[in-house]
Amino acid sequence: MPPIDAVLIGAGQRGRDAFGAFAKRHPDELRFVAVVDKDESKRKKFAQDHGISNENCFSDSAEFFQHPPLAPICFNATMDREHLPTALPALEKGYHLFLEKPMADTPDGCVKIREEANRRNLMVQICHPLRFNRFYKKIKELIDNGAVGRVIGLIMCENVAYWHYAHSYVRGNWGRIETAAPFIVSKCCHDMDIAAWLADGTVEHVASTGGLSFFIPENAPAGAPDRCVNGCPAEMTCPYFAPALYLTDYIEWPVTPLSLDLSLESRRRAIETGPYGRCVFKCGNNIADHQVVIAGFKNGVALNFSVFAHTFHPYRSIRVLGTEGEIAGHPEKADIKIFRFGQGAGGWFGDSPQPETIAVEAEEGAHGGGDTGVIRNLLDCYRRGDYQAMKRSLDVAVEGHLLAFAAESARLEKRTIIMNA
Ligand SMILES: NC(=O)c1ccc[n+]([C@@H]2O[C@H](COP(=O)([O-])OP(=O)(O)OC[C@H]3O[C@@H](n4cnc5c(N)ncnc54)[C@H](O)[C@@H]3O)[C@@H](O)[C@H]2O)c1
Repeated sequence: MPPIDAVLIGAGQRGRDAFGAFAKRHPDELRFVAVVDKDESKRKKFAQDHGISNENCFSDSAEFFQHPPLAPICFNATMDREHLPTALPALEKGYHLFLEKPMADTPDGCVKIREEANRRNLMVQICHPLRFNRFYKKIKELIDNGAVGRVIGLIMCENVAYWHYAHSYVRGNWGRIETAAPFIVSKCCHDMDIAAWLADGTVEHVASTGGLSFFIPENAPAGAPDRCVNGCPAEMTCPYFAPALYLTDYIEWPVTPLSLDLSLESRRRAIETGPYGRCVFKCGNNIADHQVVIAGFKNGVALNFSVFAHTFHPYRSIRVLGTEGEIAGHPEKADIKIFRFGQGAGGWFGDSPQPETIAVEAEEGAHGGGDTGVIRNLLDCYRRGDYQAMKRSLDVAVEGHLLAFAAESARLEKRTIIMNA
C-alpha cells in the first residue's frame, strides 16, 4: 500500500522532530507533500528533508488554504493560539486533521472544532500521545477488565522538574498566557485527557488552587542582570545558569529549540540574544508554576491531580483506586503494580503485600512510544474508515480540555466550577 499523503502547517520542533521524524522513519506509512511555515529557514529545512517541491511550500496559511486540498490529512503543529484559526480552515477545506494540543485556547474553541469535524464527517486526532503508550494503554485495559473493581478515585501527579519548567514555561514558548495557554491547559491537558479517558465519564465539578510563586523578579539573586552571560553574581550557584544548561556536549532536546544550527558558536549567540539566555526571574512569565486540581465525574469517580515545577526528576505517577484493589505505577519506571485487597502476603492486615507486577517496555519514539502510536492511530483509522473510533477519541479529548479550562477558572476565581451550570 502506498503511504498516506499529508501536509504540515508549522515546521517547528514538533512538526519537524515528531511528525516529520515519523514520516522519515516510516516512509511506507506517511509522506509529507506540502509544508506551511512563516519561518523561511524552518520551511526550507522541512521541504529539503522531505523532498517537497517549491510550489508546495507556503509561508502563509491563508494563501495555502486558497489551494484545493493537496492531501487527505493536514498535520497542524503551530503554536497554541494558532491552532483554532488554522484548524477551522483546514476542516472547511475538507482535510482530516492531526492537531497538536491544546486543541484551542478557549473551551468554546475546542467545542467548535469538534462541531465542525462532526458536521463535515472528518476525523480529528488531537496529539495526546500518552493514551497510546503501553503504560497507559495497559492501565486502561486493566480498568476496563475490572482488575480492581469499580473505580472510586484517580490520584495523578505530574512532576515537571525545575529545569524543564524553566526551559519551556519561563524562558520558552509557554511562559505567557498571551501567547500560550494556561499551564494546566498547555502542560496538563495530557493528564486531564488521561483522567477523562480512565474515568470514562463527563466532569461534574472542579476546584483548584495554585499560582506562580517562584519565577518572579522578587526572587532574583541580588545584582542579577537580565541575561546570565552579562556577569551574573550567582552564576556558580544558580541551577538555571544558561551556559551550564545549553553550552555542553549535550545537544538533544531541550537544547534543540535554541537554534537550527547547534554548533557551540550558534548556541552561544542564542543565549546572548535569544529567549533561553534570559534570567529566569526576569522573563515576564505569568503562568502558574504549581497547581492542584480536584474534580468529580458524574459517574462518581473522584480525581486528585497535582502538578509542580519544583521537582528534581520529570515524571508522572498514577494510582487507580478501585473497590477491589489499587493499581499504581509511573510510566518512567515501566512497570505497573496491582494490589488486590485481602491478598497481602502477611494476611489481611499484612504490611508486605505481594503485588502483581506487569512490565511495560516503552516503544520507539518520544512519550514512551506515544508519539508513534498517536500518529499511527489516525493513519490506521483513516485507512479503515473508522469514523466512530475517531469520534469517541475526540469526545474524550474535548472532555479533558474542558476539565483543564474549568480548573484554571476555578483557580483564578477561587471557587468550585459546576460544569454546564
Ligand atoms: N503533544 C505533545 O506532547 C507536545 C509536546 C510539545 C509541544 N506540543 C505542542 O506543539 C505545538 C508546537 O510546538 P513547537 O515546540 O513545535 O513550537 P515551535 O515554535 O517550534 O513551532 C511552531 C511553528 O509553527 C509556525 N507557525 C506558527 N503559526 C503559523 C501559521 N499561522 N502559519 C504557518 N506557520 C506557523 C512557526 O513559525 C513555527 O515554526 C504547540 O502548540 C505545543 O503546545 C505538543
